[in-house]
Amino acid sequence: MSSFDAIFGCAPEVTAHAPGRVNLLGEHTDYNDGYVLPIAIEQQTTVSMRRNGQDEYALHSEILDSTVHFVLNEPPSEHFAAYVYGCLMEAHDVGIDTRPLDIHVQSDVPMGVGLSSSAALEVATLRAIRALTKSALDDVSIARLGQRAEIQYAGVRCGIMDQMASSLASTTSALFLDTQTLARRLVLLPAGSAVLVLDSGIPRVLAESGYNQRRAECEEAARLLGVPTLRDVRDVSQADALPEPLRRRVLHIVSENTRVLRAANCSSAQEFGTLMNASHASLRDDYEVSTPELDRLVALLQAHPDVYGARLTGAGFGGACVALCQHDSLLPVATGVLEEYAVSGFKGRMLVPSTGGAAGQ
Ligand code: GLA
Repeated sequence: MSSFDAIFGCAPEVTAHAPGRVNLLGEHTDYNDGYVLPIAIEQQTTVSMRRNGQDEYALHSEILDSTVHFVLNEPPSEHFAAYVYGCLMEAHDVGIDTRPLDIHVQSDVPMGVGLSSSAALEVATLRAIRALTKSALDDVSIARLGQRAEIQYAGVRCGIMDQMASSLASTTSALFLDTQTLARRLVLLPAGSAVLVLDSGIPRVLAESGYNQRRAECEEAARLLGVPTLRDVRDVSQADALPEPLRRRVLHIVSENTRVLRAANCSSAQEFGTLMNASHASLRDDYEVSTPELDRLVALLQAHPDVYGARLTGAGFGGACVALCQHDSLLPVATGVLEEYAVSGFKGRMLVPSTGGAAGQ
């Protein structure tokens, strides 16, 4: 019997999946209309649903072992339910019939570490709604609705990267995405390299408030510079006239966009890794979203001879680090670095490759 059956006493009508993602390069650039380079991870979220013929929705989360009941004109107060509710509302607003459903959510995407468990939940929910209603939503529309759901109903003014990655990326090639035009292409990892993701074990404190604050700073900097978004800053010396910390925020965005463009066109693992290292320094010093623990873990990764480059990944303020490694060294690198990290008094863990298989090529 499936988990849905066990909770709701019958089989689901549809089941859909969507993966988490790890961002290789291009951090905090998406809400500045810039460039990003995420890759999907093997861990995914599964959403099953059926029409229940009742007056209210029933939403069960297997991880939280909790069922929430709600109606569409009253948002549920439970945080996890806000994402699903938001997707239902967004689907409803574009004319999709979202009559009450029994919904079951199951996921092995690590939560709260910067691997987009929320986007995976949004995209899986919208894919399930698409399948159930046979609507003509394409994958980009699903990403846009998911992003709107997160902004409107979860209160994070996120960009479009995570939902685009969950909706369109693969686990074998990175997705090079221009977040202004949504032009995109798949980019192979440099030959002989593979992706390792380690969790710093530090919860992402301030992730939501700090994130929204950074976004507001970028908007203020763009206003002062007289450009629509920081993507349009061509010459970084334009930022010299800005007050701190806005000047440094602009430095990060402009330099990070340049790094993504270089990485998307480079075939050398060494060069790719050097760009990742520079990204971490910029996120630490100019964008100020790192923490001492992330800096320590990244430094240990960068010092390892089988690592081409490493950086914090996702919004920062805690969470995970990503490294590009020699493809046959992932496990020894993870073991060695996590041991040294433990000597510093911290407890990390390996997230990618997941224990179920290998990532990258
Ligand atoms: C979060 C947001 C994304 C992006 C990253 C930082 O994951 O959801 O839109 O801004 O942070 O790069």
